[in-house]
Formats: sequence, C-alpha cells, structure tokens
Amino acid sequence: MSPKRRILVTSALPYANGPIHLGHTLEAVQTDIWVRFHKLRGHECLYVCADDTHGTPIMLKAQADGLSPERLIAQVHVEHARDLADMLIGLDNFGSTHDAENGAICARMYRGLDAAGYIVKRTIRQAYDLKANMFLPDRYVKGTCPNCGAPDQYGDSCEVCGATYSPVDLKNPVSAISGTAPVERDSEHYFFRLSAFEDRLKSWIKSGAVQQSVAHKLDEWFSQGLKDWDISRDAPYFGFEIPGAPGKYFYVWFDAPIGYLASFAQLCARTALRFEDFFAADSSVELHHFIGKDILYFHALFWPAVLEGAGMRRPTGVHAHGFLTINGQKMSKSRGTFITTRRYLESFPPEYLRYYYAAKLGPGIDDLDLNLEEFATRLNSDIVGKLVNIASRCAGFIGKTAGGRLADALPEPELFAAFAAAAGTIAAAYEGRDYAAAVREIMALADRANQYIDQRKPWLLAKQAERASEVQGVCTQGLNLFRTLMIYLKPVLPAMAAKAEHFFQEPDWTWEHAAAPRLGAPIRPYEPLALRLDPAAVARLVEPAAAAAPAAPANSATPAAAAPVSIDEFMRIDLRIAKILAAEFVEGADKLLKLRVDVGDLGERDVFAGIRAAYTPADLVGRLTVVVANLAARKMRFGVSQGMVLAAGPGGRDVFLLSPDAGAAPGMRVK
Ligand code: 2FM
Ligand code: ZN
Repeated sequence: MSPKRRILVTSALPYANGPIHLGHTLEAVQTDIWVRFHKLRGHECLYVCADDTHGTPIMLKAQADGLSPERLIAQVHVEHARDLADMLIGLDNFGSTHDAENGAICARMYRGLDAAGYIVKRTIRQAYDLKANMFLPDRYVKGTCPNCGAPDQYGDSCEVCGATYSPVDLKNPVSAISGTAPVERDSEHYFFRLSAFEDRLKSWIKSGAVQQSVAHKLDEWFSQGLKDWDISRDAPYFGFEIPGAPGKYFYVWFDAPIGYLASFAQLCARTALRFEDFFAADSSVELHHFIGKDILYFHALFWPAVLEGAGMRRPTGVHAHGFLTINGQKMSKSRGTFITTRRYLESFPPEYLRYYYAAKLGPGIDDLDLNLEEFATRLNSDIVGKLVNIASRCAGFIGKTAGGRLADALPEPELFAAFAAAAGTIAAAYEGRDYAAAVREIMALADRANQYIDQRKPWLLAKQAERASEVQGVCTQGLNLFRTLMIYLKPVLPAMAAKAEHFFQEPDWTWEHAAAPRLGAPIRPYEPLALRLDPAAVARLVEPAAAAAPAAPANSATPAAAAPVSIDEFMRIDLRIAKILAAEFVEGADKLLKLRVDVGDLGERDVFAGIRAAYTPADLVGRLTVVVANLAARKMRFGVSQGMVLAAGPGGRDVFLLSPDAGAAPGMRVK
C-alpha cells in the first residue's frame, strides 16, 4: 500500500437555475466513487463542490420567476444539496459561488493577476438592448446567419452551416430579452492574458494531468493560438464587482472554478485543515477535478493558467467524462428523456443507479447510455441474482444450524485467497477510473462464489443433522466470499456495505479487511439487502409525467386525481396573498380577464385569469386573491402573464376568489 496521500477532489459546479438531473448525477457518482475508494484505502481524501450561481441566465430566470437572484439561488441550493445527499454523494462541503468566501478569493486572485501584469483592458463593441438597458450576451441575440442566410440563429454560431461569428455580424438581429433590434455600443472590458501561459500549459499537460485523448484536443487549441480571455461583464449582472472597477463584474466562468477553492475554504474554517497546505505554489497535496468534456477549455487551459498566474499550485489531474444519453438519445425535455434526479429517487434506490453507472464508466470521454431496459436487467441479474444471492443463500443456515456463529476456519482457504488476491487489480481499476473493469472483475468473482455454493448445496446438507458443522463451514466460506466482494464494492454501494457491516457486526470496513476472513464471530439475522427492479416501473421514468399518473377506474364516480406531486415540489410553489388593483377585459379572449395585482414586497404584476364568466372587472377591484407568485412568466397571445390566480369552483360562472379579510395583506405567504 502506498503511503498516506492527501487529495482534494471536485466535480463541476451545477448551475443554480435548474434541478439536478441524471447527467449531473453521472459525474457526481463518478467522482464520489473515486473519493470513497481513496477514503477506504486510508488516504486523506476530501470532496468539495458548490452551486454555480452567477451570470445573465440566472439573473433573468430570477426576474421571470418574480424573485431576487439571492432568493432563487438559496432555494435551488437547498434542493441541490438534498438531491446530491440522497444519491449518497459524500461531499465534505457544498457551497455556493455567491458565498462571501468566493468574493474574497476572487478579489485576491484578481489582484494577484493584475499585479503580475496578466490583466489588460480593451474596448470592445457589443450588442446593446436599449429597452432592457443592458449589453446582450451572444446567446441573447438572434438573427439571420451572415454566412448561409438561415433565419433565427444565435449570435455566436449558426446551427445550420456551423459558421461562427460575433452577434454584430448577424443580419436583422433581435434581442431575445426585449424583442427589439439591438444597437452597438462600446465598452471597456478586462482580459486575462492566456497567451502568456502557452509554454507553461504545455509542460503541465506533459506532466500527465489530462487523458491522452484530451491532450490531442488541447494540441488543436494550441495550434489555433490561445486568445486572451474576456473576464468582465457590464452591469446589470448578477455576480461580484471587480475591485477598482465600478459597474464591471467578474464573468461567471471566472468566479466558478474559484468556487472550488471557496468551498474548500469553508471546509477549512470548520476543521483543522489549512488552505495554504493545499493551494500554495509548492503544495504537494493532490488536486483532481472531475468534469464533462464540454468544459475542457475552461479547466485545462484557463483554470491552470489563472491558478499559476495568481501564484498558486496547478491541478494534479483534470478528468473528463462523456455525456449521458437516455435510451440512445440526448436528454431532452420535449422527448420526455429529461430525468431529474428527484424523479428517479422518488421510485428507486440511489445505489441501483450508482451501480449501473459504475458498471459502464470507463476512464475515457465516450458517452454513456442509460438504457432503461438494460438497467433493470443488469440490476436484477448482478446485484439481486448474483451478489446478494450469495449472502441470502448462506445466512439462514448459520442462524439455524450454527447458533448464529461463523465457523472458526474456512473449508477452502485457497478460494478465499483467490478473492483476496484480486484486490490489486480491482484497486488499480478504481484508481484509473476504469470502474467498469473493477465491476467486471468483482462480478466474475461473484459467479465463482455462487458456483461454490451450487456445488456444496448447503440446503441439502442441512437436512442431515450430523453434517451441521459442514453446513456451518460452507456457509462461513460463502459469507466470507460475499464479505470480500462487498468491501470491494463499498465505494459504489456505500449504504448496502453499511448494512453488510452491521450484519457481520463489524465497524467501518477498510480495504484491508477484504484480505482477512471473518471467523468464529457472531452475525446478526440476515435482512434482504436489495429487491428486484420492476422493468415496467423503470420504463415509466421516460414517460411524460401526466401519463405516469394512476388512471381512474373506468366506472369511478370521482374524477382521476392529477399526477401526485412530492412535498418538495409543493414547497417550491410560492403562494401569496395579492390585492387586485385593476381588472379589464381582454379583447378577443372571451374567457380571460387581465388583472393588475399587488403582491406586497414582490411588487405589482399583470396576470391573465380565465374567470371572465364569473366576474366583471368592476367586481374584482380591491378584492384579495391567492397567486402563485413564482410561476415562470408565460408569453400568451395577449401579453405576458407573470403568475397565476388561484380560484376554486366548478368553473364557468361559479368560481370563488377570497373575500377581503381583515387579517390578510398583499404579499403574505399562504403556506
Ligand atoms: O457547465 C456547467 O454546468 C458549469 N456550471 C460548470 C462550472 S464548473 C467550475 F468551473 F466551476
Ligand atoms: Zn449559417
């Protein structure tokens, strides 16, 4: 065993404007297995991550939801942390790029870069939205491709001909925010001089910090020449203001990787760890980043250069993985293949997916397909049919015929020795992120364990009272083979391994435990460790949510309830008392009224409500109602609706709003 290593590990920061989905989970599981493996081997291995909270999309999403960005990211943080924890991702800290620690480290690193001459100012021309009063990121300008004439293309590249360009080159450009034609404006921006790091980056890559295939990609980028990197954005922008540059903010991609450091600084603040030990230029601690292959440029070029420029150490390894597809297709909301982690967890245990991912994850950047049929088959055959089967076939006999005690010796020590001897190969596979190879090896051993039990048939031996000690021996052998395999699988199946530790009455297993059998010791009564997966239930993961609702019986008098929502989903709905300030008919819409409502501290807004049959506008003014305040704004034929009024009743003429009540005031929360 190698001497104790000190290792800090990260996975990419999820954006704070959407839920954790199975793609994020793939990366988190890949990282978590690697971390748990190193912890199991006795190394000091720490895993930090954070939410990526800044930038224009999050600012606009908060606006559309009628929330402050701070409130939006706080809500999302709670959900992200819970989803990751429920997937058994053992994070040592989960921070946020908006945390004060990140602001402080960004400012410090920026000052270091500036003092060393790596920051330059340059004036650039950019699309500006006069109505929204803001500069437009490339993705927020749409228009006709200057190269092939395809309409409705983004401001940075054409999806039809593949040309790349700048938004000012588009023909008939339109702002995606206000729908107006943008103008061009000058603005001073701050650039990081990436080009100054070319040689140092090349030698860093030679150190083996990235995978072979990635090194080739980087060569391509080097031959195209490294361009300086624009790290500033103009107000309004949700982010950190650049020190000494009022109205200028750090670009979200500048402060995001620094979020790794900030999250780690939070961990240091509540432990005895010292930040300097990990990030000083001469640090010998390992630093590993797990990322998707789409963000390599940021992690294999910008990030090591920024660290070095700021006088800090560079990463030891940047490990990229491929994308997740579902049933061979890209995850997509419209196809119903966008699966949130919460949706998965509502129906299935986290370890089933962890195992499936592990069984398919190699060290390269190939995409990984989650085939739902294969998922069910594989789980049922490997975990239920092979692994757990070993224990469930042996445990009962130790209870019944041996007083719940394992035998003092193994009948076939060579077989156990063969299992113990696999430790090296399996460890090397984990270390090299070839989890598929580790799982293959482990399952081949599970087959051998089952063959052994098949041959010795303890269920037949147990019928002859005089062979009780033989039964105890065979089952002790079987259970010890199972135990060694569970220890090997502990990084992948931490909760199942904990149950198995409890069964064997052993405290925390380490990797070394796999080599020494457990003998002459009592065990607890066996409880099932895994249940079969129903393939039909798995297939329903990709059905549209409504179709997954239980259908009402055909002759039922009560109408079918809608698909159930979890308490978490319900808690995300922000219900508020609102006062109707004005109400008017909507021309051309015979069901709608347009209401202007006051939601207290959330301000005023327009809401369209289908209650025209029940109320005339004059009846409504001054009344209170309940609105869903965080419903994303919807563009309707008649205008934008910024919320929804809740009314009860069978519809038509009989719908009821709240009556004015002395205790209710606009903005008050309803739950
Ligand atoms: O691509 C993304 O989802 C980014 N939020 C990842 C950031 S990783 C790191 F640099 F912060
Ligand atoms: Zn084009």
